[in-house]
Amino acid sequence: MISERVQELLTEIENSTVSTKEQLEAFRMRYISRKGVVTELFDQLKTIPQEDRRAVGQELNTLKNAAQDRFQLFSTQLEEQSDNGAASQVDLTLPAVPNQYGSIHPLTIVRRRIIEIFERMGFNVSDGPEIETDWYNFSALNFPDNHPAREMQDTFFVEKSAGEVKDDVLLRTHTSNVQIRLMEHKKPPLRSIMPGRVFRNEAISARAHCVFHQVEGLYVDKNVSFKDLKDTLYHFAKEMFGQDSKIRLRPSYFPFTEPSAEIDVTCFICKGKGCNVCKYSGWVEIAGSGMVDPQVLANCGIDPEEYTGFAFGMGIERITMLRYGIKDLRLFTENDVRFLRQFEGA
Ligand code: PHE
Repeated sequence: MISERVQELLTEIENSTVSTKEQLEAFRMRYISRKGVVTELFDQLKTIPQEDRRAVGQELNTLKNAAQDRFQLFSTQLEEQSDNGAASQVDLTLPAVPNQYGSIHPLTIVRRRIIEIFERMGFNVSDGPEIETDWYNFSALNFPDNHPAREMQDTFFVEKSAGEVKDDVLLRTHTSNVQIRLMEHKKPPLRSIMPGRVFRNEAISARAHCVFHQVEGLYVDKNVSFKDLKDTLYHFAKEMFGQDSKIRLRPSYFPFTEPSAEIDVTCFICKGKGCNVCKYSGWVEIAGSGMVDPQVLANCGIDPEEYTGFAFGMGIERITMLRYGIKDLRLFTENDVRFLRQFEGA
């Protein structure tokens, strides 16, 4: 009777498998613990006739050892599994999955390049707030009270509390606010560029966005002249668009510069011959500029009799579009990886 039961249990043990801690515990309860089947059989040993007891005892010992060996094996297997985790599933002979490198956003590439060029000419980088007061964005820059740029269609005013617009606080419409803050806080000589985000209340299209980036430049010192402005921007154009680039200045108007000029560079796509990027003129506009209006210097506590300065401002999106032949401004903010991957390694 007992012998048959032992045989049965031996096969059961041999065929058993364990893959979780719970199953291991169940195995221990059934075959090893004091309440298990094997102990139960040992208890029955007393009922066996004396002459058979020794043989049956041996069989039972074999069964007990088999159960313990198996238990030992299962425990080590489970331990190894949890140690290696998924790593044990990795096939080291397979070819490696190639690394996917991220790419730098084209606006960042161009901003860094602009900064690099001006840094080599002795300009440092200044920063200022994006939420500004009317003074720093407009008044100190000589914008007359009725200037159209102050009106709602251009400027985002900040709500003081729900529904109550405070027309004194706004999102800056250009980086020129940093010009004022810099001149207020530091004495000339000042030579700085100011990259940053600007905001204008415009409908989003291929050519306009309500958030974009500018780099403004400012140089204030004794005897700064219009020639310095021309030389600086000529050097910039050659570094940015190629050594054979030429610049031309067209008279323009900004409330905070006098005289003012729009700066064009020879179209680097067609080299001045005429193409659809330059609209067959051979020139593309890259910046607004001018000599800092004496009134603006005075507004910031700088004596216009002693100091003069020039300023310029350019759109980073515009320069990037020109440089890479990008036709739609919206691509910059859509985060389409097919667009962004084209700048890998740039
Ligand atoms: N702030 C001007 C703009 O946003 C650009 C500019 C800056 C022009 C400095 C002249 C001098 O259009």
